[in-house]
Amino acid sequence: MYQKIAIITGSSSGIGKAFLELLANDKGEFYKTPFDEIWAVARRADALNELARSITNVKVVPVVADLASDSGIKTIEDKLKAEEPSVGLLINSAGMGIKGKVMDKSPDALSDTIAINCSALSRLIRITVPYMKNEGVRPAIINIASSAGFLPQPNFAAYAASKSYVISFSRAMSYELKPLGISVTAICPGPVRTDFQRRATEGKETDFTDWRKNFVADPVKLARASLKASLKGKRMVSYPFSQKFLHLASKIIPISWILSFSGGLK
Ligand SMILES: NC(=O)c1ccc[n+]([C@@H]2O[C@H](COP(=O)([O-])OP(=O)(O)OC[C@H]3O[C@@H](n4cnc5c(N)ncnc54)[C@H](OP(=O)(O)O)[C@@H]3O)[C@@H](O)[C@H]2O)c1
Repeated sequence: MYQKIAIITGSSSGIGKAFLELLANDKGEFYKTPFDEIWAVARRADALNELARSITNVKVVPVVADLASDSGIKTIEDKLKAEEPSVGLLINSAGMGIKGKVMDKSPDALSDTIAINCSALSRLIRITVPYMKNEGVRPAIINIASSAGFLPQPNFAAYAASKSYVISFSRAMSYELKPLGISVTAICPGPVRTDFQRRATEGKETDFTDWRKNFVADPVKLARASLKASLKGKRMVSYPFSQKFLHLASKIIPISWILSFSGGLK
């Protein structure tokens, strides 16, 4: 009998870790049938091993993989081929972005952003869907996009563009995978309290410092809302509610105004 599993990328910290802990402690709030295993994917083996030790309700399997590399994706592909599990849930939360002007950053910063946020997310869907079996519980994919994907964003250009890709790809996949009974949900959060801002500013800021500090969301609340939206089969969620206005504004405000507004963001 195959194992019924969930796969969560980016589960060593932030939003991915919040998903992992919520699912590990799930007593039927989200999934009536608990997962036999949760594959926790990230690069930091120590953080994943610590989570696997501290979580006892479900077996957490650390999968150490650099999703910017072909070998990282192959690690997951090989594991799926070897174990042939039934994948009930894939959460693509791993992501990165480096703030600053493109011309001030290394070419690698660009390619890593695209590799992790776009290529890895797409390839993981491609290699995982063949293992999603619609038996009782509808298999689901949750992709963590961003409200940054609503707008072109000078000083965060590749990140914002990569998240536009995630939104567009997720929407198209929700249509393509519907006949297989698989739901695809893109989550578009505004600022969330995680390690993201520290990494994006290369250690200069540990948290959001400008006006956005008033809108910073809690990762656990975001993860809970995302799982509920996925179970309802929603295609896209802006979180929190304030981000819906940004989405609406991005559709009706002229692009030159959007560029001046988003160019002024740090
Ligand atoms: N925080 C926010 O304000 C915010 C807002 C909107 C959207 N998001 C999105 O939310 C998602 C999660 O970010 P977060 O806020 O939770 O930030 P975070 O705490 O920095 O978490 C990022 C996660 O991605 C993993 N990751 C990064 N590079 C990787 C690589 N090359 N290979 C494998 N895993 C990698 C990290 O693990 P390792 O370092 O261990 O590899 C970590 O677990 C991202 O997609 C981000 O774009 C965040």
